[in-house]
Amino acid sequence: MPISLQQALRDSISLRNVSESSALDTELLLSYVTGKSREYLRTHSEESLSIETYDKFQYLMLRRKQGEPIAYILGNKEFWDFDLKVNKSVLIPRPETEFLVEQTLAKLKNKFAPLRIADLGTGSGAIAIAIARKNSGWQIDAVDISEDALLVARENAAMLQVSNIEFHLGSWCDGLPKEQYDLIVANPPYVAPEQKLFLGEGLSFEPSVALVAEDLGFAALDTIIRTAKFYLKKDAWLLMEHGHDQQKKLVDSLKDLGYKNVAGHKDYAGIDRIVECKWI
Ligand SMILES: C[S@@+](CC[C@H](N)C(=O)[O-])C[C@H]1O[C@@H](n2cnc3c(N)ncnc32)[C@H](O)[C@@H]1O
Repeated sequence: MPISLQQALRDSISLRNVSESSALDTELLLSYVTGKSREYLRTHSEESLSIETYDKFQYLMLRRKQGEPIAYILGNKEFWDFDLKVNKSVLIPRPETEFLVEQTLAKLKNKFAPLRIADLGTGSGAIAIAIARKNSGWQIDAVDISEDALLVARENAAMLQVSNIEFHLGSWCDGLPKEQYDLIVANPPYVAPEQKLFLGEGLSFEPSVALVAEDLGFAALDTIIRTAKFYLKKDAWLLMEHGHDQQKKLVDSLKDLGYKNVAGHKDYAGIDRIVECKWI
């Protein structure tokens, strides 16, 4: 007996325990397997699915039921004003990181000189690409320790026709060319190893190297702030995303290390999320 689009959409009930957006997830998966828009699915709900298409849809629904994030199943994620390819080698870019991009671009506003900018821990390339698209005269160096992540980042830059980013394999500032930067931005891993288990099932699909840092999640931030000052020009900015309970420690550490204009910001959800500072 053929299954209609409407019947397939009703399968969203089975996702209610895993997803707060079960209806949307179901539409996205059905749209993916049929190649039709979500609007089409709703307006042609009486149309039937072939057995092969329904089987494929059910397989993707099963993956979602098992907690796999929708972005990994679809292979892409919207970020800032573009779409990024994602796979299990990269962190799925988060809305709070769009806030980091916003703050970073605010620092670069009205600066038209050929600036040199670094993105540490670039992952999918999300931050570097958002900055690079703003001004093709800026040169961005993007570093990651994961070769597989860099493959994805390079593919995203090519797909979005961004040519002012150079990608480098390496560890934080050690991966950068020996240059002085006008701005360094980083979204490093900041989850404590003990904490990861409690942060939701979806996280178990994302690479640990992108999420977890030793020293209660502070180790990567600590390495970055100790080394970034040697790569910053006078008056240059350093901006970092951090965990909800790390802002005070980060601010105090930056002040101890001699950074100036140290300030913390809350993200769109009202959670302490970003610290900015200058090297003077
Ligand atoms: C939280 S993810 C951020 C990814 C991306 N920038 C974003 O905001 O969506 C952290 C990234 O840092 C990378 N990473 C972890 N340790 C690193 C290291 N020692 N040096 C450079 N990158 C590292 C991970 O591979 C991962 O891509």
